Amino acid sequence: MNPDPKVIAKAAQILRQGGLIAFPTETVYGLGCSIAIREGIERIFSVKQRPASDPLIVHVSDPDQAKDWTINLPPLFFRLIDRFSPGPLTLVVRRSLKVPDIVTAGRETVALRIPDHRVALALIRETGTPIVAPSANLFSRPSPTTAEHVIADLFGKIDGIIDGGPTREGVESTVLDITTDPPVLLRPGAIPREVLEAAIEKEISLASEIGQDEREGKRSPGRFRRHYAPSVAVTVSQGSPEALAEKTLTVLGGLEHGRSVGVLLPQGWDLSRVRLSDAVDRIVIYQWGRWGDWAGLAHRLFDGLRWLEKQGVSHIVAPLPPETGLGLTVRDRLLKASARGPSAENEWYWGP
Ligand code: TXA
Ligand code: MG
Repeated sequence: MNPDPKVIAKAAQILRQGGLIAFPTETVYGLGCSIAIREGIERIFSVKQRPASDPLIVHVSDPDQAKDWTINLPPLFFRLIDRFSPGPLTLVVRRSLKVPDIVTAGRETVALRIPDHRVALALIRETGTPIVAPSANLFSRPSPTTAEHVIADLFGKIDGIIDGGPTREGVESTVLDITTDPPVLLRPGAIPREVLEAAIEKEISLASEIGQDEREGKRSPGRFRRHYAPSVAVTVSQGSPEALAEKTLTVLGGLEHGRSVGVLLPQGWDLSRVRLSDAVDRIVIYQWGRWGDWAGLAHRLFDGLRWLEKQGVSHIVAPLPPETGLGLTVRDRLLKASARGPSAENEWYWGP
């Protein structure tokens, strides 16, 4: 889609004045503010109800624009940018003093990315500064992949939304810390770990695998316990039709009369065992996509969670993909959505 220059001009004007604009990227919708306006950035945190300890991604339109905001960029930065940008890769590098503390939550590093979306790129260029943007949802809710999702969470609290239709990836960017060698994967995302490893010819560790979180409690601040979660409980099953049916039955058994359960159901999987239990009208199904097509399932994951929530179910059940390719990303989001307990500040999530 080609952005309408009038819309971009208006939105950029609002951003230059410190306003907040939700805009599409190739991953999820972002809630943008100019990096130059502190009050605007503060408002992002309050509008999202996001803890100040969780830093924001700085969106730039080209690698040149990154230079002002960083120091000591390693050769790996340019290699990865060459290969993956614009695209759903966020790189954590050393920051320059120009980056406001509020953006990095006081860290010595800054997260940068060049989104692969015409609207986002046009908006950054027209605004004339990088745009800081978290996902345009309320903190700890599923990220928004359509303008309707943004409206559901933030209507009346922000200054505008540019509707670019459903986003291409449906899950957030991969966050890679390249301040260390080897780099560390802070958040699995739209670019699979294996693809990055092949590109840099090195193994990349997961922050959770190497206990990075525990050693440097501040390293991956976004790893809160309950995250990406709808307002109703989420339970995961192992990744087979039998395990999903079993889990759905158990959840149904624990529900009060008149309540219903939602299922993210892979194509061709049948819940006839559950149907036999005479509970058919208490099950709402979201046709998720083909099991094994992890990109397709990633694309529809947040939409599925939000859709089922809107149908009024009291509980959602979903099967867990394996840890390969984008399966790892979907798995990560589902495990966090299903985590019990608070999503509050200082509640770190150590798993899976
Ligand atoms: O795809 C995306 O990345 C979307 C679109 C809008 O660009 N943005 C997004 O932003 O998902 P947000 O704020 O929801 O997630 C950013 C993640 C958080 O987990 C945050 O903790 C981490 O990036 N992050 C940001 N700056 C960091 C830093 N300096 N060091 C480590 N992690 C950082
Ligand atoms: Mg987010």
